Amino acid sequence: MAKKSSILSDNSILQYQFDQYATECQSALDLAMVRIENARRIITMDPSKYDPFDRIEGRIKTFDSTVKKCIRKNYDLSIDAIKKNVLDVAGIRIITIFQDEIEQVATLLAKIPGINIVSREDYVKNPKDNGYSSLHLGVQVEIYSPDEGSKLIPIEVQIRDKSMNLWASVEHIVKYKKNNHDPEAETYFKKMSEILTAFDEVAMQLRDYDKIG
Ligand code: GTP
Ligand code: MG
Repeated sequence: MAKKSSILSDNSILQYQFDQYATECQSALDLAMVRIENARRIITMDPSKYDPFDRIEGRIKTFDSTVKKCIRKNYDLSIDAIKKNVLDVAGIRIITIFQDEIEQVATLLAKIPGINIVSREDYVKNPKDNGYSSLHLGVQVEIYSPDEGSKLIPIEVQIRDKSMNLWASVEHIVKYKKNNHDPEAETYFKKMSEILTAFDEVAMQLRDYDKIG
């Protein structure tokens, strides 16, 4: 603990190193976004092909939020430890309308050149105990590097439908990362996810109901 607080009281070197790394992460994010948007454009050119996206957004984690994550997870506060452990400094979130479109997006991403999927955490098939649901893909994107020619930068891609996103937004505001366990609140989070799961199922049934539309 003493080591961490002394680094935190003068974090200007780490901040500088992080800013350099964040610039590389921004390049990787820009490249990934362009490649995904391109794939979408190509899909939508063909009227018989279906675009499963509703929205896509990207963000770079701030220095403060990265340091907080390292402290929370007990990671070393060094740039090497950040590069090794914090794999969501660059993050992309893709929102779909329907639940079964999440897998369609993942299948599409797997086909895009320059986007390499290296890990998968499926909280859609296996939601977290609190009700959190989303598909997380760890991807790597190659960027230009003056010293090494090229280097691979990790990006966390979260794919979820609108109702899962609504759940996560509410839960994030109320609780996530505060580390306090309130059993009563937890039953409400679970209730919320049950309601939204039921909503998702009815929405897909309506979409597929052949007397409508
Ligand atoms: P963290 O980012 O610190 O959670 O570490 P991690 O990568 O080990 O965990 P995980 O893959 O489970 O979650 C990564 C990201 O998913 C988080 O930063 C959030 O954006 C989101 N997430 C995961 N679990 C929850 C949750 O219970 N509630 C909400 N609102 N978001 C979550
Ligand atoms: Mg993760």
